[in-house]
Amino acid sequence: MATSLVRRSLSRVHSSPATKLFISRSHASEPQTTQSTPVAQTTPSLKTFQIYRWNPDSPTKPELKSYEINLNECGPMVLDALIKIKNEVDPTLTFRRSCREGICGSCAMNIDGCNGLACLTKIPANNDTMITPLPHMFVIKDLVVDMTNFYNQYKSIEPWLKRKSPATDGKEVLQSKKDRAKLDGMYECILCSCCSTSCPSYWWNPESYLGPAALLHANRWIMDSRDEYTKERLDAVNDEFKLYRCHTILNCARACPKGLNPGKQIQNIKSLQA
Ligand code: SF4
Ligand code: SF4
Ligand code: FES
Repeated sequence: MATSLVRRSLSRVHSSPATKLFISRSHASEPQTTQSTPVAQTTPSLKTFQIYRWNPDSPTKPELKSYEINLNECGPMVLDALIKIKNEVDPTLTFRRSCREGICGSCAMNIDGCNGLACLTKIPANNDTMITPLPHMFVIKDLVVDMTNFYNQYKSIEPWLKRKSPATDGKEVLQSKKDRAKLDGMYECILCSCCSTSCPSYWWNPESYLGPAALLHANRWIMDSRDEYTKERLDAVNDEFKLYRCHTILNCARACPKGLNPGKQIQNIKSLQA
């Protein structure tokens, strides 16, 4: 199947990834500065979306296809625009989405050069918005990328509680509030892969470097006071490629739509190794 997939090159984006990742992004969680009063809109507010298209069943090369929609008849988020295009203009447009509220992580994509969740990203005010799949991932179709390697890496860190002794009461292993607080900044991850696919080290070594998302979860279990395999977990990632390809560039923290800092968690694993 791999031969039928296309790895998308970031060179399609005009400026450098690092520059693009600094572009400010409006999110649903940001406070509204003005209160809008519903008024009858007569003049259409037209906006063009340039969307990456590629169909594995067609022999043509990938292309950017333009779609113009009236924002007066569309919800405020990029995902609203994609759904409107799919429903009213081109039903062949393919993308993932489920919750529409930043919980499932399935609508991750690259919007105007920044990785993010389409359902949490407001439609930018500029004239043209370019939407492409997550960078350096194999494309299955249009905006849908192959997450197999990403999920296998997550699975490889054994993301579940591991014990050598049973709970003292035979039922559950309790945790103090202080120990529970140590998991803040990690348990919130929704595995959207915005961080890993914005990481240059992950682009160049996607099979051997675990990437920020999997390493954040490795640290989540290393730091869990109830887990009794801390040393084994540290040994399992103590590898020149799995862990030490991270060069603390911190693209991952800028890309995370949940405001997490995977680079900081990777630093914690490195300091525990020392
Ligand atoms: S801090 Fe590490 S994981 Fe994050 S982007 Fe940089 S190299 Fe990648
Ligand atoms: S750390 Fe953030 S960007 Fe990375 S997978 Fe988790 S939620 Fe997504
Ligand atoms: S649709 Fe679930 S995170 Fe966007």
